[in-house]
Amino acid sequence: MRFLRRAFAYLLNYLGFDLKRAVRKRYHIGEDFFSQDLGSHRVPLYRYAVEAAFSVDGMTSARVCEELFLRALTQPIDGNVVEIGVWKGRSAICLALGVLSSQNGRLICIDHFEGNRGKERSYFKSGETVSDIKSSFLSTARQFGFDKQLVLIDESSIGASEKIQDDSVRLLFIDGDHSLFGVTGDVLAYWDKLKVGGSILFDDFNVNSFPGVVEAVSVLLSHGCITKSVLIERLFVATKTADGDSEKCLWALRELHENARDLDAV
Ligand SMILES: C[S@@+](CC[C@H](N)C(=O)[O-])C[C@H]1O[C@@H](n2cnc3c(N)ncnc32)[C@H](O)[C@@H]1O
Repeated sequence: MRFLRRAFAYLLNYLGFDLKRAVRKRYHIGEDFFSQDLGSHRVPLYRYAVEAAFSVDGMTSARVCEELFLRALTQPIDGNVVEIGVWKGRSAICLALGVLSSQNGRLICIDHFEGNRGKERSYFKSGETVSDIKSSFLSTARQFGFDKQLVLIDESSIGASEKIQDDSVRLLFIDGDHSLFGVTGDVLAYWDKLKVGGSILFDDFNVNSFPGVVEAVSVLLSHGCITKSVLIERLFVATKTADGDSEKCLWALRELHENARDLDAV
């Protein structure tokens, strides 16, 4: 029994979860959520986060939402959490509930609310406009009680990066423009914002649908700038290391980024 408990603790530690921190802080904010929204019907907070997330339109799966929530809640280093690409706020709910419950930093949400380049039609329902999406997001944040704590930067991810301090981010979730140009641009702009030991989570890691995401991740891995923690469905979870050759990573990413811009222009 003791062996099993140790093995479980080791596994959590290996995956980057700080169980003590989670247990200590987990229900601090959660109590309010339970009593407000679910009456005496108590469910574990991560299930509540997923249920809440699925009450709004979105593109993030239940398993990925759960992972975002747990990472934001239990990550063992201090700092802020940044999400690039919030849309109507599904994944933001999971991150926000994790951040609030952990009392570790703030959630910074970044989106220009214009949809993805070339795919606008699959984003907007008929009659919806940019301002509808932003107001849906804001009403999600109000409904689930994180509008006051949230920092929303309503502009393109590259411009938004200038408003974020270097070495202040513990978790970076990249779910904006998944093209090679977009994802390499985001990694380049946010690399210095992310703390060593912090997590970088790439959504839509899939070679057929989004080869650019896979290519950017491969560059970071091959020069040792990140280590893979786990792949959950299409979410690639990695940790920024101090051991890699940062210069080589950034140089290779910059080259990919420049070439992708040229390809776009053709
Ligand atoms: C895949 S959706 C995000 C889905 C969301 N995370 C969810 O759980 O439903 C991508 C979002 O990224 C935003 N986006 C795309 N490119 C962007 C850019 N360069 N800067 C800021 N936001 C961007 C789009 O407006 C869109 O809302």
